[in-house]
Amino acid sequence: MKRVETVIALPLLVAAGGCGEPSARIPTYHEDVAPILAANCASCHRPGAIASFPLLTYEDAAPWASAIATATAQRTMPPFSMDNSGACNTFVEARWLDDAEIATIGAWAAAGAPAGDATKAPPEPTFSPAGLDRVDMTIDMGLTYHPNEQVEDDYRCFIIDPGLTEDRFITAFDVKPGEARQVHHLTLFALDSPDAEEAAATLDAEEPGPGYTCYGDVRVPDARWLVGWGPGESALFFPEGTGLRMKAGHKTVLQMHYNKENGVFPDRSTIDLRLAESVPHEAVINRIADTDLRLPPRQPAHSESEEVTIPPYIDSVTLWGLWPHMHTMGTKLRVTANHRGEEMCLAQVNRWNFHWQGFSHYTKPITLTGGDSMRITCSYDTMGRDTVTTWGEGTYDEMCIAFFFMTEQE
Ligand code: HEC
Repeated sequence: MKRVETVIALPLLVAAGGCGEPSARIPTYHEDVAPILAANCASCHRPGAIASFPLLTYEDAAPWASAIATATAQRTMPPFSMDNSGACNTFVEARWLDDAEIATIGAWAAAGAPAGDATKAPPEPTFSPAGLDRVDMTIDMGLTYHPNEQVEDDYRCFIIDPGLTEDRFITAFDVKPGEARQVHHLTLFALDSPDAEEAAATLDAEEPGPGYTCYGDVRVPDARWLVGWGPGESALFFPEGTGLRMKAGHKTVLQMHYNKENGVFPDRSTIDLRLAESVPHEAVINRIADTDLRLPPRQPAHSESEEVTIPPYIDSVTLWGLWPHMHTMGTKLRVTANHRGEEMCLAQVNRWNFHWQGFSHYTKPITLTGGDSMRITCSYDTMGRDTVTTWGEGTYDEMCIAFFFMTEQE
């Protein structure tokens, strides 16, 4: 990245051809840029968090001005996989700058990153996110894990027995990463059957040390998604009246993704859960996936699709959110529905990044009816491959899935 060596103060830019419109001011750090960085970047770009450099002060941000302008213009920062522009829904967890904010940052960087008037600076951001109103259970790795230093990204799965004697429903959760500098994301899955538990136990026994390696997914058939978290996220409350079942007498698997960019530290992460004995609308996680992938090599943009129809006996299905998933050759993903003959966009990923994925909840849930169809389309860049790539959970396999958090009325 380029460093800004001199900070040039330019005269005010007057909007050309304006008919009495006020002049377009050159944005300055304190007045225009600092509030954007405080609200959208500082949760990760501060000491002790996941990003390796802070963006809290002018001295922090100025040397990065052009890198910030590029990353925001390309929408690689802040990292968020879903298109949140409004063209295809909006999401509660969105990390998203609007076009005007991106333009402000771009104009600021182009003008040489002027500091401006420090008295107009916003207060330094504080981070004391609201936790849960009540903690009924804490999911704990039960040990301190030392991530593998040999790999850039260590994906490790730990089998945890929550010890439930009766079914309960997760209605909210709050993740406490042990080492926020290296926990890139974590996901908790339910193992609902003895077969699933046995498969996980076998994987665990096959590898030395605690847990087992689990790149991509947890490598156990029928593992059911329960909780997902990424850097900077605070407590998440499931939609009112909904919850995800945890079955009595069954174990869970916690998938940890450690990234060593900031170093390798011993970690013991925990998840606080708010539980209910029952919920008015039990939510389920259903996936739409294209498992017949056959991706030819040396293609810059190869797409595959799969369509499913919602059974006619289902009265309606409410979609509350989703988690799109591909591996590293994925570039774009789109999910649409045909609702009573009309095409609807459910989710659009414009720049897939395997490194940054997670669950996102709709700002406005979407209701479909029995007989509607849903279609997933995944695009891949296979230029780096010499052979056909197929579906699978290995590093060199691919996937094409959208997991939906939904409730059904029959
Ligand atoms: C969710 C956490 C998170 C948020 C929010 C975030 N960043 Fe980052 N950022 C990172 C991490 C981690 C890296 C290190 C590289 C990586 O892992 O992708 C990074 C890297 C960068 C880089 C280095 C170059 C690059 O593109 O990789 C720039 C510049 C940057 N961030 C700017 C920003 C700006 C500006 C914002 C807010 C508008 C922002 N980031 C918000 C986590 C975050």
